[in-house]
Amino acid sequence: MKLLGNLFENNRLWAESIKKIHPDFFRKLSEQQAPEYLWIGCSDSRVPANEIVGLMPGEIFVHRNVANVVVHTDMNCLSVLQYAIDVLKVKHIMVVGHYGCGGVRAAMRNQALGLIDNWLRNIKDIYRQHRDKIDAIQDEEQRVNLLCELNVVEQVNNVCHTTIVQDAWARGQSLAVHGWIYSIRNGGLKDLNVCITRPEQLDDIYRIESELQGEEVSRADQQD
Ligand code: CO
Repeated sequence: MKLLGNLFENNRLWAESIKKIHPDFFRKLSEQQAPEYLWIGCSDSRVPANEIVGLMPGEIFVHRNVANVVVHTDMNCLSVLQYAIDVLKVKHIMVVGHYGCGGVRAAMRNQALGLIDNWLRNIKDIYRQHRDKIDAIQDEEQRVNLLCELNVVEQVNNVCHTTIVQDAWARGQSLAVHGWIYSIRNGGLKDLNVCITRPEQLDDIYRIESELQGEEVSRADQQD
C-alpha cells in the first residue's frame, strides 16, 4: 500500500480540477515563471501564502521560516532575495507576520526549546528595544501581537538594508518592500503601512552608496 495515499489522491484531483478550467495551465507554467511578488512569511501551517492572497502557482515566489525573520547572514534567505530580485525581477516584497505567532511568543519567554532558541534570539533583540512599550500592556496576547507587528517592521528594514535591495534601487529597478500582518482568527490581512521604496527612507547608517559614488568619495579623500 502506498504511504500517504490520501495526499497523492488529493494531488490528482487538484491537478485535474485546474486542467478542467485551464487545459494548458501546467504546460505553460512549466515553460517559465514570472512572479511579481516575493512573500517572506512564517512557516506556520495556518499561513499559506498563495491561498491567503488568492494567487495561482507561478504568481508568487515564497520564502518561509519560523517567525518570518530576515537575518543578514542567512544564506538561504539572502539567496531567495537575490534570485527573486536579480533574476525574476519581482516588483514587490511583502514581509508577512501573523498574530499569535508561536515563535514570537517563545521569544518573550525563557523556556529552553533547543536549537531554535538561537534563531529566536533575533526577536528577543526587538523585544529588548521596545520593552517599555510592550510590557506596559496588561494582556499577554496583546503583548505578543504588538511584538508580532514590531517584528514585521524590523524585518522590512532588514530586507532593505541588504546590498541586494540597495543595489537594485541604485540601478533604477522598481522595488517596494511592504509589511503586512495576518489574522489566523478571521483570515484577514492588514497592511502595517511601512512600505519602503527608496534608500532615503532608511536610517542613514544603513544606506550603502553605489560603487560609482564610492569611487568619487575615495578620490575626494585622496585629494585632501
Ligand atoms: Co508564526
